[in-house]
Amino acid sequence: MMKQEAVGNRRRVLRRLALGALACFWGATGALACKERTEQAGASQAEPYPTRPITEIVPFSAGGPTDVIARITGEHMAKTLGQQLVIENVMGAGGTTGIKRGAHAKPDGYTIMMGHMGTHATAPALYPRLGYDPQKDFEPIGLAVGTPIVIVAKKDFPASDFKEFVAHLEANAAAMSEAHAGVGSVSFATCTLFDSQLGVKPARVAYRGAGPAVNDLMGSQVDYMCDQIVNVVEQIKGGKIRAYAIAADKRSPALPDVPTTVEMGMPEFQVSAWNALFAPKGTPKEIVAKLSDALSRALEDPATRKRLLDLGGVLPEAAERGGAPLAELVSKEVERWTPILKATGAVAE
Ligand code: MLT
Repeated sequence: MMKQEAVGNRRRVLRRLALGALACFWGATGALACKERTEQAGASQAEPYPTRPITEIVPFSAGGPTDVIARITGEHMAKTLGQQLVIENVMGAGGTTGIKRGAHAKPDGYTIMMGHMGTHATAPALYPRLGYDPQKDFEPIGLAVGTPIVIVAKKDFPASDFKEFVAHLEANAAAMSEAHAGVGSVSFATCTLFDSQLGVKPARVAYRGAGPAVNDLMGSQVDYMCDQIVNVVEQIKGGKIRAYAIAADKRSPALPDVPTTVEMGMPEFQVSAWNALFAPKGTPKEIVAKLSDALSRALEDPATRKRLLDLGGVLPEAAERGGAPLAELVSKEVERWTPILKATGAVAE
């Protein structure tokens, strides 16, 4: 080999080594950074998400519809993810306290939250200073369950059907009480619409969730409420409360004997809610995708589906699942509910 060529090769090798060393050298001033970067890189590759339990904030008390939906879907999600979903009930202000906490949590995939049509569609119209923007401050994971609304009353309510219930309410509203789960909740927003359509103003009693509200309804401590079907199916079937109508144009398979508001001559009152999973804005896309996949698998699982359907839940089709369809739903629902609630004058103090 020509001497010059050998010298040239040696120089090229030395230059590569020098550059390598330099990179290492510059790296050496932050050698830890270099080493850490490698370790971190190694770590992030070696430890796929999740490596520890995930906190799921439920912004209402245990035992209510949102809590029940979170626990049922969370049970199967945990199997897919290989880590527990630990439910944390953070109550107050119609669910907005818990959602605010979730919105400001570290976006690392270890805090998610179950929101719904109340916290993520009606709240902006009710709270002048909400503390979060449902359309900007979250990474939507996916729709969990649709929940038709049922008008329920204490079991000894003096009305034999929906029409008599409405007549009694119109004649005695000032002496009656309606339960809800706080300004921002589904039960508050839907019965705000119902009451305003009838032009009635009952006393409105706020609870930290629809679970305790239904308990008081069973005890005849309050007169009626507008509640998500998954929260009342068993109580209705057990005769502990009365269902007068479902706010829809078709009956629920879970409550085939409960007429619709359309059948009962009040087609203007048709509302349905939904519960959905969100992560804080900035949660890495690959983590959100893993959570969306786990939720979707839960909604494909026969046992999970049966539990939710038996409670009257409406399960999203595959095309309705995942972040993009949820983001679109939130946007449409905020647009739909804002003028409705503004027109009723309802606003959080
Ligand atoms: C609950 O879980 O308590 C309900 O979602 C409250 C509501 O929005 O009515």
